[in-house]
Amino acid sequence: PASLISITDLSIGEVRRILSLATELEKEDPQQRAKWLRKRRVALLFYESSTRTRTSFELAAKSLGADTTLVSSLSSSIEKGESLKDTGITLRALGAECIILRSPWSGGPYLLAQATGLPVLNAGDGMHQHPSQALLDLRTMLRFLDLKSAKVAAHALAGVTVTICGDILHSRVARSNALLLPQLGAKVILCGPEPLLPETAAQLGPGIVIERDFDHALRQSQIVMMLRIQAERLAGLRLDLGEYTAKYQANGERIAAHAPKALIMHPGPIIRGMEITSDVADGPQSAIEEQVRNGVAIRMALLARALGTKKGARA
Ligand code: CP
Repeated sequence: PASLISITDLSIGEVRRILSLATELEKEDPQQRAKWLRKRRVALLFYESSTRTRTSFELAAKSLGADTTLVSSLSSSIEKGESLKDTGITLRALGAECIILRSPWSGGPYLLAQATGLPVLNAGDGMHQHPSQALLDLRTMLRFLDLKSAKVAAHALAGVTVTICGDILHSRVARSNALLLPQLGAKVILCGPEPLLPETAAQLGPGIVIERDFDHALRQSQIVMMLRIQAERLAGLRLDLGEYTAKYQANGERIAAHAPKALIMHPGPIIRGMEITSDVADGPQSAIEEQVRNGVAIRMALLARALGTKKGARA
């Protein structure tokens, strides 16, 4: 049984096996697929709001035949002050065999795995990591580049440049992607203004550079990932939104001028008119809906792996 806390927990071979398993499960006959985790118990523990991650994990678990239960902070004893540890132990006592956790605290999934001994899947923890998002993003990129998951190896993305633009400071999605993609040979350009992208971000590792000029970054990129400004985490940080959108918004004119063939990605939720305009979000270069669809396949593979079914254990 395997947790997934950080994208760095996975070797390239494990990433490849998860991607292959996702494709195998996606193609499988639904009745056969529902036998993989028949009657296994999966708890979704969500301390922060979520649409995509929660729904896709739940659909993925149900597709594999598992029973799911959702515990959210607003409708549980968490509201009365029960700790993460005690909530996890309670879910285990109720028969949960795997916990999917979204938490505002970096490290929450690690603590929960330690406290319960159960496999824990990190559905986003604070400003730390969102590993299932990085895997679904990778699947989206590989399909755009017409690369098969079986070919994923250390240099599979050599020569590919990915720009991640926006609120890098607060983004667990940026962190997980920036830690994964260079391992496959991609160059990652982090782009944004100083308050949202401190110079220290380049220390995430080799293959990562900082570029303040978005147009310059766009001209080098085959793939562009836009990020929302996380207003809920700004905590007093001041930003001139007019200046921000002038310099960093993905709008039709800018994309047509500097990246007319690039794949445009966004983990969601998107704020239309802020980091991205509707003509780009809904346009032919956008992969936003495909990212969402890929989330279900990837999360099926992660659940099969976490619960150690005979086939899933291979990943
Ligand atoms: N991408 C993502 O994590 O979206 P949600 O917050 O809706 O789950």
